[in-house]
Amino acid sequence: MNSYKHISVNPIAGALGAEVAGVHLGQIRDEAFNELQAAFVEHSVLFFRDQEITRDQHKAFARRFGTLQIHPYLQPLKDQGHPEFVVLQSDEQHPYLAEAWHSDVTFVNEPPLGSVLRCVVAPEFGGDTMWASMYAAYEALSDKMQRMLSDLVAIHDTARTFSRTNYKTEHIGAKPAPEVLSSEHPVVRTHPESGRKGLFVNTTFTASIKGMKPAESTALLGFLYRHMETPDFSCRFRWRPNSVAMWDNRCTQHRVVADNRTANRRMERITINGDKPY
Ligand SMILES: [Fe+2]
Repeated sequence: MNSYKHISVNPIAGALGAEVAGVHLGQIRDEAFNELQAAFVEHSVLFFRDQEITRDQHKAFARRFGTLQIHPYLQPLKDQGHPEFVVLQSDEQHPYLAEAWHSDVTFVNEPPLGSVLRCVVAPEFGGDTMWASMYAAYEALSDKMQRMLSDLVAIHDTARTFSRTNYKTEHIGAKPAPEVLSSEHPVVRTHPESGRKGLFVNTTFTASIKGMKPAESTALLGFLYRHMETPDFSCRFRWRPNSVAMWDNRCTQHRVVADNRTANRRMERITINGDKPY
């Protein structure tokens, strides 16, 4: 474990996730930021409480990690001068988004490095978010399975999500049923900063494993998805207004805990561009 002098970093689970105290994301000094970057690589998901920040401060913080992504389909705050924001709104009329485990936007050639998600309205209870470490999931496999996966490539696309005709995202600014986007990525990717390997297929965007018969691909992906759900690889975060979570999209997956379904819940997300997985 790294030691930190300018911030305090407290892990919340064994596999990933740490709560960071002693920083305000709107005014963060270089010494603290350098430690934050190290903590991000070490813990994969960082949590911050009581971050009363403006949208501009939210963007400026994320921009220190890289350029910002404009989502190919979701730009609900474009008219307000913030095309970079994705809004996750759920309430009595609108179901939770992201009820299945996934990494974000893996249907493009260069999926995001990560995201910074701020809670604007929290449910009184429920609506937590879970993350899972894809390092932990990979490392728990046998040598033989790791070797078999090592040269496999998966196809990711939007056929079952954004491009589906009844995918209900109009209320958060998506156009109905746009064209299908698709991309290919290794099933096991190497993190460019930590050098660690992690699984990189997900239930939401991965369509199949290239070169396998459909039944083989379905069986192998089904096994990996069940394996990834092992609670030991996960952490869980309870939201309050102005709580912020920042996750590494290259080595984690996440999903909402879709309980308390009628509660009003609003999250605003900024996403940082990543590079081509290898
Ligand atoms: Fe997501």
